[in-house]
Amino acid sequence: MAGARNKGNPGVMGWIDDRFPLTAMWDDHLAKYYAPKNFNFWYFFGSLALLVLVNQLLTGIWLTMSYNPTAEGAFASVEYIMRDVDYGWLLRYMHSTGASAFFAVVYLHMFRGVLYGSYRKPRELVWIFGMAIYLALMAEAFMGYLLPWGQMSYWGAQVIVSLFSAVPVIGPDLAEWIRGDYVISGVTLNRFFSLHVVALPIVLLALVVMHIIALHEVGSNNPDGIEIKDKKDENGIPLDGIPFHPYYSVKDIVGVVVFLFVFCLIIFFFPEMGGYFIEKPNFEPANPLKTPEHIAPVWYFTPFYAMLRAIPPILGSQFPGVVVMGGAIAILFVLPWLDRSPVKSMRYKGWISKVWLLIFAVSFVILGYLGVVASTPGRTVVAQICTGLYFAYFFLMPFYTRMESTKPVPERVTG
Ligand code: HEM
Repeated sequence: MAGARNKGNPGVMGWIDDRFPLTAMWDDHLAKYYAPKNFNFWYFFGSLALLVLVNQLLTGIWLTMSYNPTAEGAFASVEYIMRDVDYGWLLRYMHSTGASAFFAVVYLHMFRGVLYGSYRKPRELVWIFGMAIYLALMAEAFMGYLLPWGQMSYWGAQVIVSLFSAVPVIGPDLAEWIRGDYVISGVTLNRFFSLHVVALPIVLLALVVMHIIALHEVGSNNPDGIEIKDKKDENGIPLDGIPFHPYYSVKDIVGVVVFLFVFCLIIFFFPEMGGYFIEKPNFEPANPLKTPEHIAPVWYFTPFYAMLRAIPPILGSQFPGVVVMGGAIAILFVLPWLDRSPVKSMRYKGWISKVWLLIFAVSFVILGYLGVVASTPGRTVVAQICTGLYFAYFFLMPFYTRMESTKPVPERVTG
């Protein structure tokens, strides 16, 4: 019989466990972590986000070996990676496509949380750490995009950093402080490089660890939104739980294989995705004297960019647009306290919640499209309507979730 958590046992594992809780950690997070038995398609994206994170870290480390973080050398060093470094093209495309994959996976992962009420008590901190990850990821992607020092890198950064100058009183000083110069320059490139390769990856990693520790403290939610810990057998094991390892570690391999198939297809055949993953002006070196005709961020930022453009300046100040854009992200943090429904999962909520979720998702996608294309008066009106609907989904949530009638929640998880 093994000692407590394998302590005091002979052999290499016993020796390690006397000094470091390896078996205890393996058990707590894998072999004896009981996850609900009814995980579905939507539950693949957490492990896929981990996979993409590892991909970004590894390819990023190898890109850094040949990249030159100076205004004079950056663009040429990226071309050098693409043409001369052995498999450099593959490393770069894995990293640039990986950035888009990261957001695709994280957006689907967040949608799952919304669908099944995974942000509700007792998982509020899992959600809040998730939102902090999302913020850090946005900063990471934004700074990374400056590094190739192409036209869109330069002008995209110019537009976004200038937004900070719209903040009343401290704005212009704040923007200058971020840039380290009056315009985006080599100084900015240097600091974005250090933040992109060192500071933010550390923050991201730490947040991911906290995200998972918080989740394992309370246990996973599931498509029925039922707490499996409420029904345990005589050994204290949830009746509807199965050990994460080997059941879900093996199941997740299916998701990984399908994901890698799509990922490889994109890397090898459509690495720039028609300008959506690497925009066309980014194949020209940055030129501070020539503004590109049409400046648009990469697709994963465009819903928020469309909101920014939809709000007209007041007295020549873009600040209201900046507030709306920031508010669109900030409101997600308080989602756990806006949902007052007696049930967690969309399966058992009423039709009003379902219709609002649909309106929210469609508005977000339309905004994403509008942020990519050039604005016209007609498109601005559509963007304003979608922005209104986006916020209405959240502001009205405390009311419609309380007044609608819900379906009875089963005692045990269903298939
Ligand atoms: C680097 C990015 C991220 C990684 C690596 C990550 C990883 C994970 C993993 C491995 C799980 C457990 C497996 C699963 O339930 O799918 C999980 C659960 C969860 N994550 Fe994330 N996550 C990330 C970002 C986010 C974001 C941005 C949010 C939301 C703002 C979020 C919210 C949640 C929630 C609510 C759960 C619990 C789901 C449930 O039990 O139903 N995560 N995450």
